[in-house]
Amino acid sequence: MAYFEIEGGVSLKGDVEISGAKNATFPILSAALLAEGETRIKRVPKVLDVIHFIDILKELGVEIRENGNEIIMNVGNNIDSVVKHKKERNLRGTQTLLGALIAKNGEAVLPSLGGCEIGARPIDLHLKGLKELGVNIDWQGGYLKANAKKLRGNSIYLDFPSVGATENLIIAAVKAEGTTILENVAREPEIGNLIDFLNKAGANIYIERPGVIRIKGVKELHPIEFSIIPDRIEAATYLIIGAITRGDILIKDVRPTDFEPVIMKLEEMGAKMQVTENKVHLLADGRLKCTNIKTLPFPGFPTDVQPQLMALLSVSKGTSVITETIFENRFKAAKELRKMGADIKIEYDTAIINGVEQLEGAEVVAPDLRGGAALVTAALAAKGKSRILDAYHIDRGYEEIEKKITKLGGHIVRKK
Ligand code: UD1
Repeated sequence: MAYFEIEGGVSLKGDVEISGAKNATFPILSAALLAEGETRIKRVPKVLDVIHFIDILKELGVEIRENGNEIIMNVGNNIDSVVKHKKERNLRGTQTLLGALIAKNGEAVLPSLGGCEIGARPIDLHLKGLKELGVNIDWQGGYLKANAKKLRGNSIYLDFPSVGATENLIIAAVKAEGTTILENVAREPEIGNLIDFLNKAGANIYIERPGVIRIKGVKELHPIEFSIIPDRIEAATYLIIGAITRGDILIKDVRPTDFEPVIMKLEEMGAKMQVTENKVHLLADGRLKCTNIKTLPFPGFPTDVQPQLMALLSVSKGTSVITETIFENRFKAAKELRKMGADIKIEYDTAIINGVEQLEGAEVVAPDLRGGAALVTAALAAKGKSRILDAYHIDRGYEEIEKKITKLGGHIVRKK
């Protein structure tokens, strides 16, 4: 299996082009099933999870052509409702096919949802909301079977602002009869991107106030051209890489307001940040200070950046505390960071990090996608050589990571 070899200790300098957001791609490609004809989506990141997702769409009967980062989907009226299980493409992004296939075909059959093993990740909120729209749900042989004769608008309150449940319910409600009100929904930027896509395609979705969405069902959607937003998690990861290597990094063509909590934390820790409408410049000319963070739904600090920040805090001055409130198993990188000399104690949902002067290169194993990114971050700052095994986790969410890091002057090689 492929691994990364990284020689650390170099300050990374230069500019990085940020890819399209992986987590916006799945719901938008799912929603595109509702518009018959040719939909063109630009800035699609060619990361492993998206490549697998495109394979699933092809298997369902969507004709797909690819032109670099643009994909052209030709959707007919004969899309299959059954998503087949395959171990190697056990990705969370398939969750929005549930709402999309029910809205298109009146039925959906999905294998149990996978993704990073960062917590139990139940889908009770998705199912509760779908039932309120008129969907019947059943489990058979490890498959979720859903069907609805007719989808009917309803008022639905989410007990927690789940990203996936919000996306599924928006997609399912777009063509439902009548009006749907969704309360306490997630407000992540990827959801705004999905709503913009659907409205441009003819949907009638209106954000009444933060966390409350009104959807008036429409008869039809039409195919459009659309662009995925820049990946805020990738952007935040490169800023943290710049901070840990005491570098000088310019992130271009991004939406800084999408990752403001990360920018503000880095500034609080002592990095010099310059932010314009679509660029962020970070200069870190020394060791940064400790800080405390708590992960929260947007606009709080994103859980998907927590492991990378943990890597940075492990070499920052003083003691930091991280409280993880979203996923109960998201500190797996700590065990690997300790192999590099980090001083991290985990107690339930809390990590206590005593910053050390310097990490040492080591052989470590990427535990999941963002945990893997945290290890790359740490290895770039560590003294000597590191090997990061199970590199495929990182490939699931970072497009051309070796190329981007090499362009910044870092030493990273993929090996088999
Ligand atoms: C999405 C992102 C993931 C990110 C997460 C939180 C994708 C493909 N993945 O995951 O990268 O870390 O948002 O920003 O977009 N929950 C329930 N019941 C449910 C649904 C969720 O209890 O029915 C809980 C989860 O266990 C978790 C919390 O709600 O503790 C947040 O999950 P959710 O927002 O749904 O995340 P995902 O959509 O799985």
